[in-house]
Amino acid sequence: MTQTQPSARLQDVLRQHAEQAYAHELSALHAQDHRPRPPQWKLSPQAVLTYLLGGSLEDGTVITPKYIGDRRLMEIAVATLATDRALLLIGVPGTAKSWVSEHLAAAISGDSTLLIQGTAGTSEESVRYGWNYARLLSEGPSPAALVESPVLRAMREGKIARMEELTRVQSDVQDTLITILSEKTLPVPELGSEVQAVRGFNLIATANNRDKGVNELSSALKRRFNTVVLPVPDSLDDEVSIVVRRVGQLAASLEIPAAPPALDEVRRIVTVFRELRAGVTEDGRTKLKSPSGSLSTAEAISVVNQGLALAAHFGNGELGAHDTAASLVGAVVKDPVQDGVVWREYLETVVKKRDDWKAFYKACRAVS
Ligand SMILES: Nc1ncnc2c1ncn2[C@@H]1O[C@H](COP(=O)(O)OP(=O)(O)OP(=O)(O)O)[C@@H](O)[C@H]1O
Ligand SMILES: [Mg+2]
Repeated sequence: MTQTQPSARLQDVLRQHAEQAYAHELSALHAQDHRPRPPQWKLSPQAVLTYLLGGSLEDGTVITPKYIGDRRLMEIAVATLATDRALLLIGVPGTAKSWVSEHLAAAISGDSTLLIQGTAGTSEESVRYGWNYARLLSEGPSPAALVESPVLRAMREGKIARMEELTRVQSDVQDTLITILSEKTLPVPELGSEVQAVRGFNLIATANNRDKGVNELSSALKRRFNTVVLPVPDSLDDEVSIVVRRVGQLAASLEIPAAPPALDEVRRIVTVFRELRAGVTEDGRTKLKSPSGSLSTAEAISVVNQGLALAAHFGNGELGAHDTAASLVGAVVKDPVQDGVVWREYLETVVKKRDDWKAFYKACRAVS
């Protein structure tokens, strides 16, 4: 089911799974990992941490950092998965919840594809199992007619399952997870049987702060999780380095023929994002209004990325203010009326006054 269609070669796949894209790093870690591994884990917890945070191995293999931020948070996340509690990653949009969850599953189980995308329409069947109705009608209930959910497969194979946006899922469907997480069993009454989770099984769920209150987790379910809150990057420098790193990777995989972005240009975009998000300038002197959108690191990455594409195909191949202005304004002004006012005020009271931002100011004026 998760096989890539035969006609698509791996290098043609638009976005490879983490275990494909970083297969080289994972196999080097595997070969040089001499620490004890929890049952069914591909790597020891320490090696999983190195995979997440980066480092270099004895043989010189360089492991690129996937998560940039607090080491302790990642230690807690990895350690949780070695216990009988599941892991819940919470944070505002764009704080790498899905990204970290994918890499954890790839490093621990070698498989990040056992994924359920939570929505208001997610049904119990997609969390447990469904039926192949043609077979069900012709043969009656049988193991062959059962369609396993990703969670069921993870239980059977002793792998990590992933559930995205858990708090968007209706409460009664969320609660199907309780038996799975506490009993580690999923009854299949139609077959008079049950599936017992194999060692190595665990679950990573993600939830967005912005959805708080939509479908709050029941306290029974909450108790089955250890929660790790992923923060917005602490400092401007951290956020700039996240953006630079991710843009480099994305530009390489999309083969955008542009020079890597100048650091100044990225710094400026990240500064704009941080100031508008915080509602105050970096020097703390000027109070600002915040726009309605989330202005996350993820959006800063796409602004720079889109700017690079413009520069490569319609500019001189080097990212400049002219290339970033259009997508930046698009990211900030989500509501043309309200956000438009916030943006123009920022432009005139902050951007205009910065001596080294003149070209940027002009470019923004031209598209605002
Ligand atoms: N601290 C960080 N370290 C490394 N990458 C980061 C960090 N913060 C954000 N990113 C990057 O931001 C992008 C978006 O992250 P992701 O989609 O995982 O966010 P999310 O928290 O799941 O957001 P949402 O709530 O909207 O689903 C990823 O490409 C990721 O690399
Ligand atoms: Mg996400």
